[in-house]
Amino acid sequence: MARRTESRHAGAAYGAPAAGMDRTRRLVIVANRVPNPRERGASAGGLAVALQEAISGREAMWFGWSGQITETTATTPRLTRHRRLTYATLDLGAEDYRRYYQGFANASLWPMLHYRLGITQFDREDYAGYRAVNAAFAAALAPLLRPDDTIWVHDFHLFPLGGKLRRLGGAAGARRRIGFFLHVPFPPRSVFLALPRADELLADLAAYDVIGVQTEEDAAHLRDALRRAGHAAAARRVGAWPAGIDAEGFAAMAERAARGPEAARLRASLVGRALVIGVDRLDYTKGLPHRFIGYGRLLAGFDGRHLGDVTYLQFAPVSRSEVAQYRALRRELDELTGRINGQYAEFDWVPLRYITRAVARTTLAGFMRIARVGLVTPLRDGMNLVAKEYVAAQNPEDPGVLVLSQFAGAAGDLKGALVVNPLDPDEIAEALDRALSMPTAERIARWRQMMEAVRTNDAAAWSRGFLATLEGGSASALAAEHGGKAA
Ligand code: G6P
Repeated sequence: MARRTESRHAGAAYGAPAAGMDRTRRLVIVANRVPNPRERGASAGGLAVALQEAISGREAMWFGWSGQITETTATTPRLTRHRRLTYATLDLGAEDYRRYYQGFANASLWPMLHYRLGITQFDREDYAGYRAVNAAFAAALAPLLRPDDTIWVHDFHLFPLGGKLRRLGGAAGARRRIGFFLHVPFPPRSVFLALPRADELLADLAAYDVIGVQTEEDAAHLRDALRRAGHAAAARRVGAWPAGIDAEGFAAMAERAARGPEAARLRASLVGRALVIGVDRLDYTKGLPHRFIGYGRLLAGFDGRHLGDVTYLQFAPVSRSEVAQYRALRRELDELTGRINGQYAEFDWVPLRYITRAVARTTLAGFMRIARVGLVTPLRDGMNLVAKEYVAAQNPEDPGVLVLSQFAGAAGDLKGALVVNPLDPDEIAEALDRALSMPTAERIARWRQMMEAVRTNDAAAWSRGFLATLEGGSASALAAEHGGKAA
C-alpha cells in the first residue's frame, strides 16, 4: 500500500510526492515533555502513544525536559536506554522554568495561539528565557546527533529549536532533515502578529524542512503569515496532518476496562441514570464554565424531564497551576459546581461530579464506554483526541453520542457528532437533550461514520504521513526550497 495516501488530508498542499518513511535512519523526537521510560503502553501520555508506531522498528531518541526543576538548567542530558529507544532529558533551572515554561510558552504563546489575545501577556525577559532554553536544548542535543538522523520537533515550546540546531551543526546541520509539528491551532495572521516578536517566531519556523499543523484552516493561516513575512518558500513546506489515536488499541482497552471493578462501581452508583462524561485538562481553552452552565440549563429547562435522570461526570486534572489564569479558572469551576449541585441535588442524587485529580487512561476508557454522551466543547482546540477516544470507546451495538465543539480540529473529521458553538450554553443544553433521547438506530449511524474517520486518520497515519514527507522528499529538493535561508 502506498503510505502517502493513508491519511486522507495528509499534507495536501505540500508539493513534492514522498517516497515513504526511511526506517534505516534514526528518528530523534524533541518535545518539552518526554514520557517516563517506566510508563509504557496504556499509561503513557498522548504524544508517546501517538508516536509508538513511528518509533517501532527503528532506532529512536526522545529528547526534552526531564520534568525536574533544579537550580540551573543542565548542560548534559541524562541518558536512559530501552532497547532501541534512548531517552535524553535535561533538568530545567528554576528561573528558566518560570520564564520559558510558565512565562512565554504558557502565558504568551498558549493563549495567543488559542485566539485569546485578551489574556495574552508579554514580558521581554520571559521571551529571552524562552530563546535561552531553546538554545540550551540545541546545545545539549547537537553532540548526540548523527549526520543522517531525522529530527522531529514538537509544539509551541520549541519554535526556535530547528534554526538553532542548524546553526550549531555546520554543514551537516544545514543538510539535516528537521521537521516541526504544531499540536495547537495556528490563528489568523492578524492574531499571531499581535504578539511582540511574532516576526522572529515566523523566521524560526522557516528553518524547518516540513511544518505540520492539524487542519487545513491552520495551514492556510500559517502559510499566509509566512508568505507575507517574506518566507514564501517556507509557506510551501506547510502541510496539514490531523493527529489521531490508536483506534483499535483504545477500543480494546475500553472494552476490557468496562468489564473491570471500577466500571462496575461507577455503574452501580448511577442506579440506571444516563451518564454524560467530560475529560479535559483544567484549562481555560476547554470551555468548562460554559459547559457547566449549559448542563445547568439542561436541568433547569426541558420541562424538568432531566432532573434526577442524568449524571454528569467531569474529569479536569489540574494543569499549569502556577499560571494565574489557571488558578482563576479553578476557583470559577469550584464555585459553579457548588452552585449547580446546591441548586439541583437531591439527597440521593448529585447532578455534577467533578474530579480534579489525574485518573488512569484505562479507567477513563472504561468510563467513556459507559457514558451515553461524551461532552467535548473547547473554545478552540488543535485537534482534541479525547473526542476520538470517546468514539473509539463505544459499544458498536449501543454507542453513545458525541457533543462536539465546532472549534475543535476533530470537528473536521467527526461529522456524526452533534456539533455546537461552545460559547452558547443553551446550544449545549439543547444538544445534550437531543443526545439523551436519540434513538439507537441514529446513534449507530452517527457512530459508524465517526469510527470510520477515527480509524482512517489514526496515530499511525498521522506519523507516517508526516514522516513520509520529511524523509521521502529528496534532499536537494528540500535544500532548494530553503533558498539558503535556513543555514
Ligand atoms: C497540550 C500541548 C502539549 C502539552 C500538553 C500538556 O496538549 O499541546 O504540548 O504537553 O498540553 O500540557 P503541559 O503544560 O502539562 O505539558
